[in-house]
Amino acid sequence: MSILDIRVLGDPALRKETAIVESVTDDIRALISDMFETMYAAEGIGLAAPQVGRTERVTVMDVGGAKYALINPEIMLSQGSIRGEEGCLSIPEVFGDIERASIVTVRALDETGQEIEVGGSELLARCLQHEIDHLHGKLFVDYLSVLKRRAALAKWEKIKADYPGYVRKVILEKRGAHHSEGEL
Ligand code: NI
Repeated sequence: MSILDIRVLGDPALRKETAIVESVTDDIRALISDMFETMYAAEGIGLAAPQVGRTERVTVMDVGGAKYALINPEIMLSQGSIRGEEGCLSIPEVFGDIERASIVTVRALDETGQEIEVGGSELLARCLQHEIDHLHGKLFVDYLSVLKRRAALAKWEKIKADYPGYVRKVILEKRGAHHSEGEL
């Protein structure tokens, strides 16, 4: 396993549509374990393949101790709506209130290639929607109103110099040094 570099806002990888995984191979399983390791090291609760510069339709999450590795996830059902604060490992230190469906049901393949269904509400529902958006080149800041997006991007303009080449090096020693709860 290895910790991968996280791509931050401005890297074109984050805006690319991912490719459907045709078969769940050892390469995909290796990607999944690297993504889990990277997500935990960065203290996030979700990570999608484009965030580590990959094009496979794969995401990992750990919400309240429940781990999910989802391949080709698709939202089958969504209900209700709820606003809540969101952040992203690819846009460090920027947060915003985003409206999401409050309950979603997602169909995907697991690491063994079996079809699974994941249903969730609250934080799990939010995380599922956020990660699936990543797989289609969409970021949470896209949902902000014009004014709030302008403010978020102005903040990011000042922060982004810390990430040359749009790369966020995840350094284990930094663990706990900054507050990144809620970065998905
Ligand atoms: Ni994210």
